[in-house]
Amino acid sequence: MADLSTEYLGLRLANPLVPSASPLSRDLDTATRLRDAGAPALVMYSLFEEKIEQEEQQLARFLHQQGIGHGEADSFHPVPADYHSYLDSYLEQLHRLKTLDIPIIASLNGTTLGGWVEYGKLLEEAGADALELNVYYIAANLAESSHDVEQRYIELLRQLRQQVSLPITMKLSSQFSSPLNFIQRLEEAGASGVALFNRFYLPDIDLDTLKITPTLNLSSSHESLLRVRWTALLHGRVNLSLAVTGGFHTAEDMLKALLAGADVTHLCSALLEQGPQHLARVLEDMQHWLDEHEYESVRQLKGSLSQQHAIDPAAYERVNYISVLDNYTPPPGVLR
Ligand SMILES: Cc1cc2nc3c(=O)[nH]c(=O)nc-3n(C[C@H](O)[C@H](O)[C@H](O)COP(=O)(O)O)c2cc1C
Repeated sequence: MADLSTEYLGLRLANPLVPSASPLSRDLDTATRLRDAGAPALVMYSLFEEKIEQEEQQLARFLHQQGIGHGEADSFHPVPADYHSYLDSYLEQLHRLKTLDIPIIASLNGTTLGGWVEYGKLLEEAGADALELNVYYIAANLAESSHDVEQRYIELLRQLRQQVSLPITMKLSSQFSSPLNFIQRLEEAGASGVALFNRFYLPDIDLDTLKITPTLNLSSSHESLLRVRWTALLHGRVNLSLAVTGGFHTAEDMLKALLAGADVTHLCSALLEQGPQHLARVLEDMQHWLDEHEYESVRQLKGSLSQQHAIDPAAYERVNYISVLDNYTPPPGVLR
């Protein structure tokens, strides 16, 4: 049987199918079922900058009001001993997940430099095995150049790097002008890995109410090919762990990512739709494919179709564009 193990962020994992940040890690029972189905590690749901700051402001207001209006009553109204902060809940869940005996990757999510980044230190102290930093940023400012946007990521990473000695992986958007150059700069700034790519929820317009409504649709497999391409272009060019996230549902999707050079493939939508047991089925299908194709290990497969190793490296670039258009064969019923 082919060896499915892989290395990711310096961690040795039993296989490459890692559930990504999502509500799946909020519940210990679901997380246990994922572990039992074969999940070799878990990425936790995110700790959000906005929620941290909102809570800090509320607390500051509370203490300030005590200070000005009710000075003599201060000792009667301290912060309650059982006060349970957003951070406390996150750290407690991290402790609970650590009992599963698989690596737990904590996730920080925010966009601005600030005190919230220091929370990385607490996550490290609480036993996180690595950190994922998700800078979910919409570049909606006319005055901000693409260089400014990239610097935002790099500065955040640098700030977090100063707080922790854990491996840090950056969960990135696909919308950068020159992703390879940018990712190389992230490596120089201390990243240990990248996760390609964030899926942005899209604001929709309700034609009846004329209101803007956020929509979060789960993914489908066809989204995975964008990630496969950029992984293939990156593999061998940077010394980073590579994860793919977005559209990875079936064993076929996972195998393509590994052939392109991914170290792990993240799953979220597929697990939300089909439940933890889906992971076991995908693992079984992968194992079957590898054995049938006489691969001894995931290691042997990994990157064998990256751009550097592909027989036709141009297939990942523009060169193939014209021939793809010229050779387009419409399915039945579609105009040519
Ligand atoms: C309901 C839901 C909650 C999510 N929560 C987070 C989160 O807290 N932090 C984060 O970085 N990504 C979060 N994601 C994004 C997923 O981790 C994943 O990157 C994305 O859904 C693409 O993978 P998929 O196609 O397998 O769903 C969430 C996604 C969904 C659907």
